[in-house]
Amino acid sequence: MREAIAGELLAARARTSGLTDCVDDGELTAQHSPLMSPLVWDLAHIGNQEELWLLRNVGGRDPMHPEIDQLYDAFEHPRAERPRLPLLPPAEARAYAHEVRGRVLDLLDGVELSGPPLLQAGFAFGLIAQHEQQHDETMLITHQLRAGAPALAAAAPPAAVHADWPSEVVIPAGPFTMGTDTEPWALDNERPAHQVQLDAFALDTTPVSNAAYQLFIEDGGYHDPRWWTPAGWRHRMDAGLTAPLFWSREDGQWLRRRFGHTEPVPLGEPVLHVTWYEADAYARWAGRRLPTEAEWEKAARHDPATGRSRRFPWGDAAPGPEHANLGQRHLQPAPVGSYPQGASPHGVRQLIGDVWEWTSSDFAPYPGFRAWPYREYSEVFFAKPGEPAPYKVLRGGSFAVAPVACRGTFRNWDHPIRRQIFAGFRTARSLGAAA
Ligand code: AVJ
Ligand code: FE
Repeated sequence: MREAIAGELLAARARTSGLTDCVDDGELTAQHSPLMSPLVWDLAHIGNQEELWLLRNVGGRDPMHPEIDQLYDAFEHPRAERPRLPLLPPAEARAYAHEVRGRVLDLLDGVELSGPPLLQAGFAFGLIAQHEQQHDETMLITHQLRAGAPALAAAAPPAAVHADWPSEVVIPAGPFTMGTDTEPWALDNERPAHQVQLDAFALDTTPVSNAAYQLFIEDGGYHDPRWWTPAGWRHRMDAGLTAPLFWSREDGQWLRRRFGHTEPVPLGEPVLHVTWYEADAYARWAGRRLPTEAEWEKAARHDPATGRSRRFPWGDAAPGPEHANLGQRHLQPAPVGSYPQGASPHGVRQLIGDVWEWTSSDFAPYPGFRAWPYREYSEVFFAKPGEPAPYKVLRGGSFAVAPVACRGTFRNWDHPIRRQIFAGFRTARSLGAAA
C-alpha cells in the first residue's frame, strides 16, 4: 500500500515536472488565456494543497508559509486575476512543492494507514495524487491554449482498427447500481452506491467522429436554430461559434491547431473541443440526444451476466494501454473504434479515455450524499434548487486523465459554454415502449 501510494505521488510529480520544465520562466508566469491560471500558479497550488491535507491535516504540522495560503486558494481569486497576484516565482514554486513532497514521503513512511477516515486505505494520499493529476490536465489545457512553438511531444495513438462494429447497441431496461461505497479513492460526489431503474435505450458504440461532426457543419447545423436550445442558440450567436475550438478552414479543408502544430482535422478521431451546446445541437440534428449520466454509467459498468457494476467497462482490472487512451501517453484521442479490449460487455468502446463525454445531466448530488472531506470539492458546484443549474456532467476521462483519477464512477463537471477542455460526446436514443 505504502509503495503504491508513493508510486502514484511520484508519477504525478514526474508529469507535473514535464509540463513545467519544458517552457521558460516567462511562459510559466504568463497568462495564456483568461480561462486559465499561469502554469506557475498550478505548480504552487499543487504543493499548497499537499501541505494543507497531508502535512497539516494528517501530520499535524505547522504551516510552512501561512502568508501564501490565500494566494493559492482557488476560491479567493478567479483564474483571470491570478497573474497579477504576488505569486512565488518559478524557482521558489518548484522548491516549495519539492520541500512539501520530501516531508510527505517521510510522513508516509511512519503513518498508520487505517484508523481515522481520512487515512483509511490511504485516502488523503489518494486525494492528493488525484488532485495533482487533475491540475496536470488543467496545465495541459493551458499548453493547448498557448501560442508559439510546440513544447510537448508524444507518440501517436494506435492506428484505426479496421473491423466492423455496429454504430449503436441497445442497453436493455432494468436496474443497476450507480456510484460506489467500495472504491477506496472515490471522491465524495461518486458516493453512495444506489439503485437506478432505467428504460431501454440505444447508445453509440463510439464517440462522435470528426467526419460525422463535419457533416453537421456542412449541413448548416451552426446556422439552423431548430437544432439548438434557446440558451445554446444565444451562445452560438454571441460567441460566433461555427466549428470546434482550434479549427480553421483553408482552401476548402478543415485544419486544427494541436499543441503548437497545425494539421488537417483527422476524420477518424473523436471530435474534441466542443461546448455542451454544440454536442446537444449535433445530437438533435442527428435525430438523437445526449445520454444521461446514469445511462452512461450503466453502459460503462453494468455486467448483464452477473447484474453487478464493475469498476471499468472491461472489468475490475486497472486500466492498461490495451484498454484505454489515458495518462497523456498520446497528445490526442485515438481513432473511433480503437481499444476493442476496453469495450463493455455490450460492445461499447472508448467509454474510458480519449475524450471527456458530455452528458445531458446537471451536476447534482446522489441521494444520501455527504460532503467529504471538504465542501469545496463538489458540494458548492451542485445545482441549487430553484436556480438554473450551472454545470453539466462529463464522464469517462480524456487522453489527459491519469488512471489514478479515472474510474467508471468518476464525475467531472463544467459550464455548458466551455470547450477548451478535452471534451467530445456520444449520442443516445430512447426506444419506444414496444422496442
Ligand atoms: C473536477 C476538474 C472540475 O479542476 O476545477 C482541482 C478538480 N478541484 N482542484 C477542477 C479540482 C480542486 C476540478 N474538476
Ligand atoms: Fe486544485
